[in-house]
Amino acid sequence: MPAVLPVLASRLSAAVATAFGPSYGELDPELRAATKPEFGHFQTNLALRLAKSLGEQPRQIAIRLVAALELDGLCEPAAIAGPGFVNLTLLPSVLAAGVNSLRGPLPPRGERVVVDYSQPNVAKQMHVGHLRSTVIGDALCNVLRYVGYDVIRQNHVGDWGTQFGMMVEQVLSEQLQVESLDIEGMQQLYQRGRKHFDSDPTFADRSRARVVLLQSGDAGTRAIWQTMVQVSLVEFDRLYAKLGSPLTRADVVGESAYNDQLQVVVDDLAAAGLLTESGGAQCAFLPGFTGRDGSPLPVIVQKSDGGFGYSATDLAAVRHRVDDLHADRIVYVVDHRQALHFQQIFALARAAGWLPATTPAEHVAFGTVLDTAGKPFKTRDGDTVRLASLLDGAVARAAALLEGRDDAMAESERLAIAEAVGIGAIKYADLSNDRINDYVFDLDRMVAMTGNTGPYLQYAHARLTRILAKAGEVPGQVTVLAEPAEQRLALLLAGFGDSVVQVAETLQPHRLCTYLYDVAAALSAFYESCPVLTSAGEVRASRLALCAATRRVLQDGLGLLGITAPDTM
Ligand code: ARG
Repeated sequence: MPAVLPVLASRLSAAVATAFGPSYGELDPELRAATKPEFGHFQTNLALRLAKSLGEQPRQIAIRLVAALELDGLCEPAAIAGPGFVNLTLLPSVLAAGVNSLRGPLPPRGERVVVDYSQPNVAKQMHVGHLRSTVIGDALCNVLRYVGYDVIRQNHVGDWGTQFGMMVEQVLSEQLQVESLDIEGMQQLYQRGRKHFDSDPTFADRSRARVVLLQSGDAGTRAIWQTMVQVSLVEFDRLYAKLGSPLTRADVVGESAYNDQLQVVVDDLAAAGLLTESGGAQCAFLPGFTGRDGSPLPVIVQKSDGGFGYSATDLAAVRHRVDDLHADRIVYVVDHRQALHFQQIFALARAAGWLPATTPAEHVAFGTVLDTAGKPFKTRDGDTVRLASLLDGAVARAAALLEGRDDAMAESERLAIAEAVGIGAIKYADLSNDRINDYVFDLDRMVAMTGNTGPYLQYAHARLTRILAKAGEVPGQVTVLAEPAEQRLALLLAGFGDSVVQVAETLQPHRLCTYLYDVAAALSAFYESCPVLTSAGEVRASRLALCAATRRVLQDGLGLLGITAPDTM
């Protein structure tokens, strides 16, 4: 709870100073959420930590501490538990004020964050790794904007590299109309090109020459490449729409956009004395980067054939984001296998003076999606699973579950709900696991209405919507919080803002999921012991207000995760 916790902490510090002398007043009270309802709302172990230096029994210290503690208007009288824990219980009026004063997004903080995410590759199907990046990236953009950042999305699409020389050459040798290909057709074209490249040395030579033509801007070559990019972007847009991602063309800044800056990157690094020639390639060797055997690990900035690679592009991208986009913070949502790459890029960009020490750059790494057998998620013939079919499957499963739930529902409404539930289930399953871990793609578990799932939270929201509609009055303020179950719910609701701030700091969306799941669980306990519609007078009005606040927290929280909360389910 934003306002209350710091106040409580400073009251504790003041009490310590009064009881034991000012020198102890600096000690952090380390207020923690109570682990059990009977321990109140918060707990501190100050007395235990003071025991050694004061040479007194912790319980004795706790008694003196509590005697000096000023809690008027804030808490019930403090209780001492076990060896000397001090338990604090907020007054119902304080909890009520916490709920009644829930605010929306924080005011602008005058800082800009650039978020690099999604990043599919041209002429290739998007796979589950890109799904993770898109889902996590969308959620983080929402959370960062909520806490007041100016958020700039950058979709670093893989649209550049030597494979495009080969593909253009294959198009020419087959006399293909690229316009007629879809993304699957391009992926197959790539495979034929690869074979051709490996078996025919003259084709390989032509492909290499074609890369040079592409990079130097030859019109015919560029036109074929441009068509491949366009066809791919249309497909990506289709998937973003299906997924409900706000990513648009305006967010696409592909690798090709940095082509003109790559030579500049190399020249500037060379001028700064950061490059060494190694086997004909231009490399940067940075202190602290060594392989298992202790040999130095280079960043290859320019290959021996003169071509630039992935690293040079990322270095140019850092410069663009700092110099032109004026980023105060840069976030990269990319799978964990690229961890070393980003450490090296950040270190080199800092050494070159392109990334100021005051601008944090963070790799938001995530694990692999596994199948139910624990293997990386692939189709039966070993291909990566098409994202579109995955999403359609989830929506179909949700539609089947909703079948026969409410006959009065129009077909279009049923479809909209199935979409919200199916897509929400996939997103929530992805976000609710600590992102660094691998997770199992198990559709049955994702769409389950019980447990820590998207549909469970959506259902809690829909049920609240129904209760509030039935009540037939506009909810006012929370005034009565007599029951422990309503106090527990109120305490959680009042902490919504803090939990969003925590996600913005740790960049771990699963913390918000855990929080929302706790809210939904507290809501069930509340329903069990506190009748809402059948209660009367001020109690009824207050409980309706608590329901309205819970509904808002669930809706806003799910919204931050990129999940729609339908009003009926
Ligand atoms: N396109 C790459 C891939 O599919 C990810 C790009 C990540 N972003 C970056 N700035 N390097 O693996």
